[in-house]
Amino acid sequence: MENSLILALDNEDLTEIKKIVNELCPPINIVKIGPISFLNNHKELFDFLSTKKISVMFDFKFFDIPNTMSNSINFLFNNNINIFTVHALAGETALRKLKNELDVFSKKTSEIRPKMFAVTLLTSFNQNEINSLNFKGTISDNVLNLAEKSIKSGVDGLVCSGEEISLIRKNFGNDIKLLVPGIRFNSNANDQSRIVSPRQAIDMGADYLVLGRTLTEANDRKSKLDDIINSLKN
Ligand code: C5P
Repeated sequence: MENSLILALDNEDLTEIKKIVNELCPPINIVKIGPISFLNNHKELFDFLSTKKISVMFDFKFFDIPNTMSNSINFLFNNNINIFTVHALAGETALRKLKNELDVFSKKTSEIRPKMFAVTLLTSFNQNEINSLNFKGTISDNVLNLAEKSIKSGVDGLVCSGEEISLIRKNFGNDIKLLVPGIRFNSNANDQSRIVSPRQAIDMGADYLVLGRTLTEANDRKSKLDDIINSLKN
């Protein structure tokens, strides 16, 4: 169960990041690095993580032309990155090219390929937001469409909200990995819109849960993590 949990390190302060990691890893053994933690500290941060047995979800949500994305993969292979994210909206051509480059690079170097996860619709999006962007249909319609295109392009997994897990499982089965942010114990959503509890997400078929502020902003993070892990047992 602990292998399903990903700790979101959304903090600029390296000292604080180290404190959080030392408190919570283990039992957590995957951390999520995004722009907030990476941009000011990336060298020291990766040096620190490499001293621990922690793998990295690199959450930069690539959304660029095929050439730019494909030429970014050296970094992924060189930094113990287990999972990285790309926007499904980058499109099938870009996703396919990227997957192909990953396979070629992995064969050439005999290194394990980082897993590519496509972000369907951000968990902060609600129906009004997608209407204002002139997307047709409901959130579910759009998530299903983006999931289908991403799976066809060869991604290893999808990032979706808890609200779409069952729908994706029903339409695309159990092979595709599902990674779910927007995890909350109560109704305090912050800027998120589509939220679920850890237990609901796992029961509906999530493979990975991203634990962000619900854990990192707790007064006692260790006991909060214990509560989360206990809520997932039985
Ligand atoms: O603190 P909170 O639980 O809201 O953090 C969620 C984390 O997951 C953030 O780092 C955010 O960037 C990320 N994320 C997300 N929605 C997605 C993909 C990633 O909230 N669709």
